[in-house]
Amino acid sequence: MLFEGLELVSALATLAACLVSVTLLLAVSQQLWQLRWAATRDKSCKLPIPKGSMGFPLIGETGHWLLQVFSKIFSHEALESYLPKIQLVIQDTLRAWSSQPEAINVYQEAQKLTFRMAIRVLLGFSIPEEELGHLFEVYQQFMENVFSLPVDLPFSGYRRGIQARQILQKSLEKAIREKLQCTQGKDYSDALDILIESSKEHGKEMTMQELKDGTLELIFAAYATTASASTSLIMQLLKHPAVLEKLREELRTQGILHSGGCACEGTLRLDTLSGLRYLDCVIKEVMRLFTPVSGGYRTVLQTFELDGFQIPKGWSVMYSIRDTHDTSPVFKDVNVFDPDRFSQARSEDKDGRFHYLPFGGGVRTCLGKHLAKLFLKVLAVELASTSRFELATRTFPRITLVPVLHPVDGLSVKFFGLDSNQNKILPETEAMLSATV
Ligand code: HEM
Repeated sequence: MLFEGLELVSALATLAACLVSVTLLLAVSQQLWQLRWAATRDKSCKLPIPKGSMGFPLIGETGHWLLQVFSKIFSHEALESYLPKIQLVIQDTLRAWSSQPEAINVYQEAQKLTFRMAIRVLLGFSIPEEELGHLFEVYQQFMENVFSLPVDLPFSGYRRGIQARQILQKSLEKAIREKLQCTQGKDYSDALDILIESSKEHGKEMTMQELKDGTLELIFAAYATTASASTSLIMQLLKHPAVLEKLREELRTQGILHSGGCACEGTLRLDTLSGLRYLDCVIKEVMRLFTPVSGGYRTVLQTFELDGFQIPKGWSVMYSIRDTHDTSPVFKDVNVFDPDRFSQARSEDKDGRFHYLPFGGGVRTCLGKHLAKLFLKVLAVELASTSRFELATRTFPRITLVPVLHPVDGLSVKFFGLDSNQNKILPETEAMLSATV
């Protein structure tokens, strides 16, 4: 009896300890999240702070005019206009990877690639390559210190983060000013143009400070997430040669990959990509099993009940994307990489809206998800049609989940020149790649 009583006390103590840890974890991570957005924007920025979410400050409340602007930035027409530029940036990068005599660190290179995509495609900045490289280093310094405690002392992470932000903002201002001069009277062709023009249409012309904060936030949202997913994609294609072959077969059937090598020039359009069903399954499966963002925060706007527990108004709650994917009953053999689970015949994700949510869910779902998927699809098409690549280590690296999912040693891979058996580079592709983006 006494033993049972002690067991009960010990169980209650463990439960209490767990509750305290979870509460502390939630409080600390919420603070860090707030610090994150405090760091990305300048104090003088007048853009609305979101209510009901710990989301990106730029966006503000649902229904806000900026949401309409964002729907334009990621609209079908806008994505169609980004597509050739995305393809060029990716082709250029793969060519550089293939020309390296040594293996490359895929995660590090994928970070550079997404940064370049954000700068060149999303913001349309024509910064010289050398300056871009320097900006990337500064951006890395900014990212490394985004989650530091706000202690403004010399050599502190916070000070380094703020200094990096100042350098970034200075370069962004220069690029925005040049852009404003060049694009006057022209049709817009990138996300920043749309942001500038649409804010004018809504009678809310943005100040330079707001534009700088806005562009920094866009880079922030796209950078780590897309780099993580790109690395996972490459890792899974390496691990599953049968999947890569099936992908190549689909590209051949659709006339994108020819027996003599790639003939992608001009053939990639949004409709072409949406017709590639197996490609879609591969990207979805990468995002299910290797979801870059583990979850999100919400502020409870109205008291509600969940599984018999009352969650009061004003509380902060966290939802886990990863746990949802891991425990959802709709997925068979959850730990197996099986793109066909998303095929028309099986469509395991068809039951219920919230079993599969790599881009979050509800009103605060990822605004850049179509762009992210487009980027990943183009990367997969280019990898399958123009590259040969091999793991440069004996075993695959371990995966870590913080700050976003990525391989611990970055994934070392050797890319080969495009002149291998099935990957001949055509002269016209060569000419297109040498064009400046
Ligand atoms: C594979 C790549 C990506 C993944 C996995 C991803 C994931 C997510 C998730 C899970 C959220 C919601 C967080 C929450 O519930 O609070 C989110 C929000 C957001 N994402 Fe993405 N994202 C990706 C790429 C991008 C890109 C490329 C952009 C744009 C350039 C972008 C822009 C945004 C924005 C603006 C929000 C905030 C939406 C709001 O608060 O209303 N994301 N993303």
